[in-house]
Amino acid sequence: MRTSSQVSSSALPVLAVASGKGGVGKSSVAVGLAKALHTRGLAVGLVDADLYGPDVPRMLGLRRDKPATSIRISGFGERGAPLDPVEVDGLQVVSAGFLLGGTQGLAVGSGVAEMLLARLLNETRWGAPDVLVVDLPPGTADLGQALMSLVRRLMVVLVVTPAEVAHLDTGRLVTVLRRAEVRILGGVQNMAYLDCPDCARRVALHPRTPDERTIWAMGVARLAELPYRVDSGPSAEDLRGLAAAVHAQLPAVL
Ligand SMILES: Nc1ncnc2c1ncn2[C@@H]1O[C@H](COP(=O)(O)OP(=O)(O)OP(=O)(O)O)[C@@H](O)[C@H]1O
Ligand SMILES: [Mg+2]
Repeated sequence: MRTSSQVSSSALPVLAVASGKGGVGKSSVAVGLAKALHTRGLAVGLVDADLYGPDVPRMLGLRRDKPATSIRISGFGERGAPLDPVEVDGLQVVSAGFLLGGTQGLAVGSGVAEMLLARLLNETRWGAPDVLVVDLPPGTADLGQALMSLVRRLMVVLVVTPAEVAHLDTGRLVTVLRRAEVRILGGVQNMAYLDCPDCARRVALHPRTPDERTIWAMGVARLAELPYRVDSGPSAEDLRGLAAAVHAQLPAVL
């Protein structure tokens, strides 16, 4: 039986889903992975840390129709007032998007995104999650640094497509993360192929990146190869193998 007492996120295993490239499927993988870990019996917290494009609530079917009239990042109301996660499909979810209206954007100075991440992690009244999955925005060097200073047990799953630019840009992130001694669990190649419904053939969607220019050549473990799913994004079934691989690694950080 889990208690609802506040749990410090700094002590929890945190799995950040990151990429050097935008639009490769980080949020889709983060949501699907969180669900698949939950299906394996884990209590999962999901943190949408993308202040500029908080997509997780929409992907989970949560929406807000009216734009927020005011935004107070400093304390979700009164300073120091805790945030309660929303429970969706058994996941405990917090999002930068809870502060913003449907189409409302936010221009913020440097440091604000980091501050928001700290609040989402530290000032949320977590139940007792076994693991937190964090969806990071693209180009995450700064937020990645912030995350490293906030949590002790950080692991990163990288998302790429087979496109060369995705591997090159993510390769730079690998270098940054390794310099900071962050544990990279491995990489997911998303939208890797399409099983053609009409011709029953497997179709590659990107020109193949020469092996030596991939993140695999940098020693990043291949965790999963996900198909392109028309109209849906990766399915829960597609992410089962990834969840098993991640779950197997959790005791190492517990
Ligand atoms: N395997 C997939 N099959 C089909 N569509 C996918 C797949 N993965 C992601 N998508 C779609 O691609 C788009 C981008 O995905 P997503 O928002 O998850 O990427 P992202 O890396 O989080 O983007 P951003 O960098 O903007 O945060 C979305 O419309 C999503 O539904
Ligand atoms: Mg995203």
